Amino acid sequence: MNMLTEAAVEKALDQKMNTIPYKMIGQDVSVYYGEKRALFDVKLNIRENTVTALIGPSGCGKSTFLRSLNRMNDTIDNCRVTGKITLDGDDIYDPDIDVVELRARVGMVFQKPNPFPKSIYENVAYGPRIHGLAKAKADMDVIVEQSLQRAGLWNEVKDRVHEGGTGLSGGQQQRLCIARAIAVSPEVILMDEPCSALDPIATAKVEELIHELREAYTIVIVTHSMQQAARVSQRTAMFHLGNLVEENDTDKMFTNPDDPRTQDYIMGRFG
Ligand SMILES: Nc1ncnc2c1ncn2[C@@H]1O[C@H](COP(=O)(O)OP(=O)(O)OP(=O)(O)O)[C@@H](O)[C@H]1O
Ligand SMILES: [Mg+2]
Repeated sequence: MNMLTEAAVEKALDQKMNTIPYKMIGQDVSVYYGEKRALFDVKLNIRENTVTALIGPSGCGKSTFLRSLNRMNDTIDNCRVTGKITLDGDDIYDPDIDVVELRARVGMVFQKPNPFPKSIYENVAYGPRIHGLAKAKADMDVIVEQSLQRAGLWNEVKDRVHEGGTGLSGGQQQRLCIARAIAVSPEVILMDEPCSALDPIATAKVEELIHELREAYTIVIVTHSMQQAARVSQRTAMFHLGNLVEENDTDKMFTNPDDPRTQDYIMGRFG
């Protein structure tokens, strides 16, 4: 592809980016841990079939915001969320919302791979089973195989799906956790520093996977690596001291950010 067409494609993609619908809308999201306020009126929308990266120095509120998107903060004792977050227009903090169903629609992958101490098969089958997604064993077999396929792990484990998930390498375990998240057909996948415990080769595999998953899912990823944010995301949001500093196209964010704090952070001047 020559330079001109490449630029034209980029431009078309940029224009397209600005017309992508919002899967989730966050309005004035504030989070408190007891007396301590961790987020200040964050307005951040999550675009469909887009990878949105959350960046910023340690303690700025990235994980807190991420957890507010599927109400994982509910599991923290003194944590309180105010403001409004919607998923396809529905308020996820509405008292009538079934939180178990919400977390099936908005799945999560954690920093440290955390497979259950069960077989690879059972790790993936767990969610579909509690949500009643498979009628017969044959249906479950299909779900398990497809999820492992999508997570890019099937070829490595197909001969040992009944062996323990904890016997896999760290990178394989993380892809198993991604397969587990995918198995219940989520619409959004939240990832909190999914590669921080992985070596560069395993990281590259997970990044490649994130790239492919974007076609079918909406992804929000917290990362400490600017390079990773630049490689995997189309939108980037920068947090600082509990405030959203800037949200922009990833390319713009890393070449010509609007806010001097973003500039300072990506240049390594703080954090
Ligand atoms: N369970 C908790 N109880 C009390 N305070 C908390 C809790 N979790 C987070 N905080 C506080 O909320 C603020 C934001 O924390 P959060 O974990 O969201 O930051 P982060 O950007 O994810 O940081 P890191 O990059 O280190 O993971 C911090 O001041 C932190 O100390
Ligand atoms: Mg965090």
